[in-house]
Amino acid sequence: MSATITLQQLTDQLDALEAEAAAEVRAAPVAADLEQLRVALLGKKGRLSAVLGAMGKLSAEERPLVGQRANRLKEQLQALLGERLEALREAAMAEKLRGESLDVTAPSRYVPAGHRHPLITTTEEIVDIFAGLGYRVEEGPEVETDHYNFTALNIPPHHPARDMQDTFYLTTSTLLRTHTSPVQIRHLEQNPPPVRIVAPGRVYRRDAVDATHSPVFHQVEVLAIDEGLDFSHLRGTVTTFLQAFFGDLPVRFRASYFPFTEPSAEVDVQWRGRWLEVMGCGMVDPAVLEGLGLDPERWSGFAAGLGVERFCMVRHGIDDIRRLYTSDLRFLEQF
Ligand code: DAH
Repeated sequence: MSATITLQQLTDQLDALEAEAAAEVRAAPVAADLEQLRVALLGKKGRLSAVLGAMGKLSAEERPLVGQRANRLKEQLQALLGERLEALREAAMAEKLRGESLDVTAPSRYVPAGHRHPLITTTEEIVDIFAGLGYRVEEGPEVETDHYNFTALNIPPHHPARDMQDTFYLTTSTLLRTHTSPVQIRHLEQNPPPVRIVAPGRVYRRDAVDATHSPVFHQVEVLAIDEGLDFSHLRGTVTTFLQAFFGDLPVRFRASYFPFTEPSAEVDVQWRGRWLEVMGCGMVDPAVLEGLGLDPERWSGFAAGLGVERFCMVRHGIDDIRRLYTSDLRFLEQF
């Protein structure tokens, strides 16, 4: 049978191959498939070669006709493969670009930088003013001993002053400090006078929460010990400080009592027409100096203590101390 293959049959086979190949090339999903198709169609052992293998059985006149037809088909298929490859590449590139596209109209993913809490900035401002007066910054532990928190500050066991400063006891002799005053003692133990320090920090008291009380709050302690310091130095320093912080307002000193100072005073500032109590102070009690082995005939000085929350609230007109601790951004972002 094969000996009688006709020109028509071969031409039909080539037509069929053309139609099939075109459909297969168009359907190839990826470039790698195209390469396999190319080999299967046009390779040495490909389908075109297989058809042409039968060409030898045609007459010498017919052979060139099939040869020409075969060459055209080959070129056609190469062109089809090339076009398909190009189309697949373009589609892949378009897909990639879609994935990488940048929507310049999209809302930004801005992360706000944040800023310092008003209690921190208030503390820094207070400390800065004293730093400008030559005071050094000192800190002490929040877990304190009974000795530093009370006894060394002339508040022996059973002294009534302890009632106002009840706190959380970790053991019978360690507690959460009720004020920053123990830093006075710790500093003087390690540093012989003259000293000038300012000591900011967190303190604790057994107080019920209300608009002006919090069991955890912040204080700044001030201490100056030198030869020849008297009440005028205390008054001048405290007045200078308060006027630097609040502005050039009237300041008044009222006699008061603290176990670790003698005499003692409470200081008021006339803020928006009203006298506001803002801090305590006094001349360091000779008993405190003696307890540290310092001769009160030679050394004298003054101390002062203030609540950071109160300073912050007065300055910014904040009506409730709890606002400082509830992390409400609508409140905090105002500062
Ligand atoms: N420690 C006192 C308190 O928390 C405040 C105070 C008053 C500190 C007078 C002082 C001072 O250094 O001299 O109530």
